[in-house]
Amino acid sequence: MAEQFVDLRSSSPRAETRKIKPCLRVEGEVVLPGDKSISHRAVILNSLAKGRAEIDNFAPGGDCLATVRCLRALGVKIDRKGSLDSPTLLVSGTGEDGLREASNVLNAQNSATTMRLLGGLLAGQSFLSIITGDTSLRKRPMGRLIEPLRLMGAEIWARGRDSFAPLAIIGKRLHGIDFKLSVPSAQIKSAMLLAGLFAHGNTILHQIVPSRDHTERMLKRMGASLETQGNSISLLPLSSPLVSIDLRVPGDISSAAYFLVAGAIHRNARIMIRDSGINPTRTGIIDILLAMGARLKIANKRPDDSEPLADIMVESSELKGIEIGGDIIPRLIDEIPVLAVAGCVARGKTVIRDAGELRVKESDRIATIVSELSRLGAKIEPLPDGMVIYGGRSLSGTEVDSHFDHRLAMSLAVAGLVAKEETIIKHARAAQVSYPAFWQTVDQLLNY
Ligand code: S3P
Repeated sequence: MAEQFVDLRSSSPRAETRKIKPCLRVEGEVVLPGDKSISHRAVILNSLAKGRAEIDNFAPGGDCLATVRCLRALGVKIDRKGSLDSPTLLVSGTGEDGLREASNVLNAQNSATTMRLLGGLLAGQSFLSIITGDTSLRKRPMGRLIEPLRLMGAEIWARGRDSFAPLAIIGKRLHGIDFKLSVPSAQIKSAMLLAGLFAHGNTILHQIVPSRDHTERMLKRMGASLETQGNSISLLPLSSPLVSIDLRVPGDISSAAYFLVAGAIHRNARIMIRDSGINPTRTGIIDILLAMGARLKIANKRPDDSEPLADIMVESSELKGIEIGGDIIPRLIDEIPVLAVAGCVARGKTVIRDAGELRVKESDRIATIVSELSRLGAKIEPLPDGMVIYGGRSLSGTEVDSHFDHRLAMSLAVAGLVAKEETIIKHARAAQVSYPAFWQTVDQLLNY
């Protein structure tokens, strides 16, 4: 894992652009990077625990590296061994009050998960923290983090009348609250749970729609008093330190999504994806592809401690357009850009609604996916909270742009696989924030 940060907006021109040509067959096996969401939580929670933890298959991308760097700056000893694509972290937990004031500004780079989870954690520590991020992250909403943390007593401020990073936090002892989460965001939920670990009294959170539950699962496994009932979560502050846990991070289903869609839409494809996480709060992509008619099979399901995993096989399919909206959205929010590509190829109309959150991701994903797929010849119209895609038209390769958004870069590569002629993807290096080996894996699967 390279130690250097890659500033997505100033990368070298050589590595910037990728070309994808239509190919005769897409075939092979995909080994996924470790799940990004689980990796963030594994390294943060083990840093707070007492003891030493070994985290295998840690997510190799820039986002989780940003979390590791911030934790090191806060005094946690984290060593790394193993391969670049599947590193192992050795985390020496500091115990519940072992974090130390960083001597400089913390940098979450492109990672909102880093900023928001650490924001919650640092609000309850006994020192000052300032945390910033890259151009994209400094445009993303932080009011949704600041408001509930202030209700817990936090002293936290941000630029633009408490809207945008950098965040300044004067850590102090917080108090638990009973709070209804208005946005179905796992980052905000997790930030409040991290704050709640160090607060006086219970923290009770009510979700309108459940979001990914990796934090809850891991906290329980590490000995925290946490109960989930329906959509509500109740957490007691720590009375004894969390217990370190060794774990192997499952493959990232959000990274699998590119190959699930590629296999389904290419006319001559068969792809086997090994060891993908299949936590039910993340499998909306599988449910939707099956509903669209994908030839997709899940095999070899394993419960693996607290996070289930399985192998997934996908073959060329005849997809049909469908309506996607409602409670399933948080279960596939990061997969919507690549689902839009599936919608372009599917027969009939695909409508995506209730996904206004896409506007505040690494790019405004409604605007960026609509503009870039339109350039490839798709008939796609934006909605305030989603898009309408008129499928069944053939795409034609041209120059498109990732807008420095990893999920756009990879979704456009999948579109390029089924477009006529060559597709040129600018700022393709963005993929490294979640999937550094993406382009290499694509190359291995394509047969010309
Ligand atoms: C994440 C939660 C989601 C998701 C992001 C990762 C997490 O964001 O889009 O990629 O690890 O908690 P929100 O919490 O903003 O919905």
